[in-house]
Amino acid sequence: NEGKLWGGRFAGGPSPELEALSRSTHFDWRLALYDLAGSHAHAKALGAAGLLTADEENELHRGLDVLAERYTAGTLRPAASDEDVHGALERLLIEEVGPDVGGKLRAGRSRNDQIATLFRSYLLDHQRVVSGLVLDLVDALAQQAEANLGAIMPGRTHLQHAQPVLLSHHLLAHAWALLRDVDRLGDWHDRVVADSPYGSGALAGQSLGLDPELVARELGFTGSTANSIDGTASRDFVAEFAFVCAQVGVDVSRIAEEVILWATKEFDFVTLHDSWSTGSSIMPQKKNPDISELARGKAGRLVGNLTGLLTTLKALPLAYNRDLQEDKEPVFDSLDTLEVLLPAFTGQIATLVYNTERMAELAPQGFSLATDIAEWLVREGTPFRIAHELAGACVRAAEDRGVELADLTDEEFAAISSALTPQVRLVLTVEGSVASRNGRGGTAPERVREQLDELRARMAVF
Ligand code: ARG
Repeated sequence: NEGKLWGGRFAGGPSPELEALSRSTHFDWRLALYDLAGSHAHAKALGAAGLLTADEENELHRGLDVLAERYTAGTLRPAASDEDVHGALERLLIEEVGPDVGGKLRAGRSRNDQIATLFRSYLLDHQRVVSGLVLDLVDALAQQAEANLGAIMPGRTHLQHAQPVLLSHHLLAHAWALLRDVDRLGDWHDRVVADSPYGSGALAGQSLGLDPELVARELGFTGSTANSIDGTASRDFVAEFAFVCAQVGVDVSRIAEEVILWATKEFDFVTLHDSWSTGSSIMPQKKNPDISELARGKAGRLVGNLTGLLTTLKALPLAYNRDLQEDKEPVFDSLDTLEVLLPAFTGQIATLVYNTERMAELAPQGFSLATDIAEWLVREGTPFRIAHELAGACVRAAEDRGVELADLTDEEFAAISSALTPQVRLVLTVEGSVASRNGRGGTAPERVREQLDELRARMAVF
């Protein structure tokens, strides 16, 4: 049983079919450096417990360093007979330092606490990468918001014209959602970094007097797991990570859908930059928003990864079961997806040109100032219930005549109600409308300016 971590009680080796099914090196090899870091820390714990001489410990550290160098140089490879990254690295270590020293490293640990720890370490590193990429997108949105501060667009509910809003206000709405995802990754980090499972053993803990806190510190964790069964059997840290990836995908897909819609002839709100859009193999005139379409599509994949994981975990008995090995590929895929998607998406957003004239032209259409009439009446002393009725009557009058609200004459307003004096025209411009929404969080230009500063201040925290 060359290269196997087990075999003593078996009369024969595993069948090739079992080996093929069981093998995970094709995806867990990417964890090798984290596994080696765990082994360094574990060797220290063994040394501190008096289970290794100083020479033995040094020899193990040397051997592990050699493996890390070879891994980084791309010359360390698992063999077909290796079951997983842990077994492969132990085999390679023994090849480097010999079986007498190399064979001591496995004491007091199991692949179960090993994988639970190093998968956390791996995700902790990648959490920083994803946070950085999401922040780049938030920054691109903030820059577009700043560059287009005066622009007014039709705000929509139910995809119908609702009320005019600043384009910047709208862009920042996306930015806040994404910033919460970065926040979520931060919460996740604080929970996971305090929880190193090394020392949990297979499930029941270890009997060799090893110090899990020492291992935790060595690996950059702030604490170790309180319950060895939980330490080896829980994967909510994986599911939660996959959730945040899925939520980022969903948030990005909402921007993506908008870009796709806004780039149509019918909307004509945005022009895509040539370097961030694609052509057609047959239709020479085409300029397609492929980045946004891929973003929309990949959101489905990210949600699928989360769904698959939760389904694997559902009703899984304690403690470790081999099912848990299925936790890696979906999250690796989510990470790989975001790491290629986000830079492209950010580039597309940063280079979008907004057709602010067209937006301004459409902003007052669809009677989007009706609420302004009602609220103006309220400020003049009319109860809202009546004001709503009267503004509705204005819409009907305008609709009957095929004009917009601002086109109604003083006489037409007066015919609807004596409360509708010519003063009402003050709020019948889109500029007047947005300026009047000046409560905190509103779309008035000075509020949006403040909001941009608030967002930037929050971004600086990360
Ligand atoms: N490769 C496994 C995983 O990723 C860890 C090994 C545990 N194997 C075992 N037979 N207990 O979960």
